[in-house]
Amino acid sequence: MRLVLLGAPGAGKGTQAKKLIETYGIPQISTGDILRKAVADGTPLGKEAKSYMDKGELVPDSVVIGLVKERIAQDDCKKGYILDGFPRNTAQAEVLDKVLAEMGAPLDTALSVDVEKDVLMKRLTGRRTCRKCQQMYNIYFSLPKKEGVCDKCGGELFQRDDDKEETIKKRLDVYDAQTAPLMEYYKKKGIVKSVMGLGDINEIFSKVCAALGKK
Ligand code: AP5
Ligand code: MG
Ligand code: ZN
Repeated sequence: MRLVLLGAPGAGKGTQAKKLIETYGIPQISTGDILRKAVADGTPLGKEAKSYMDKGELVPDSVVIGLVKERIAQDDCKKGYILDGFPRNTAQAEVLDKVLAEMGAPLDTALSVDVEKDVLMKRLTGRRTCRKCQQMYNIYFSLPKKEGVCDKCGGELFQRDDDKEETIKKRLDVYDAQTAPLMEYYKKKGIVKSVMGLGDINEIFSKVCAALGKK
């Protein structure tokens, strides 16, 4: 299954992707995670990306498209993959379609996780992430058993640099202007499925699986 997750910052794309990995046995490709790793490693790519990410702006297409092309060509993507945070604008979506057409392996589904705007800010300001395994927690909605420590791997939890109120506002604006139009783009291709992303994480996941069908 080749899947794109659509949804605003904080909609729960990463949260649902982590569960999909286990159920469907396919990797998650999160451009945000890849970029944050490059920033943490201090690579030239990371240094370039950081200035955009800290402002809540999109990193240039040329950078992200290269990353994704490289990643989907790897062996573990042969069975399929979950794209999370990519594409982010129409230009990225068009390049992706072209590359996948050349590979003879087009997208199956664009799954939209829909959440009302006013919920997103609280989710994002409350988010904490494991440094080791990237599992997400939330100080308002889903606390770890032990404060600051990942339930799954014992790793340290941290708050993302871009999860500050001002930066979140900018990310939401960028989403409206550049990413939201992708709904129409994929609707025209007839591959959109939608689930409501409010409520219990496991219940949302059941709806996600129902929308995707058994593997
Ligand atoms: P990215 O990392 O993709 O961030 P984002 O799109 O802003 O999305 P988030 O990761 O913030 O939200 P999410 O939907 O994954 O929510 P999550 O599951 O964590 O991108 C970051 C930056 O990188 C961009 O701003 C840009 O600069 C750059 N970038 C990345 N990709 C790019 C691209 N393609 N092109 C250009 N630039 C790019 O959930 C959020 C919180 O809510 C968590 O705490 C979670 O525990 C909680 N939560 C989840 N579900 C529920 C629920 N049902 N109930 C209660 N709480 C919940
Ligand atoms: Mg995410
Ligand atoms: Zn962890």
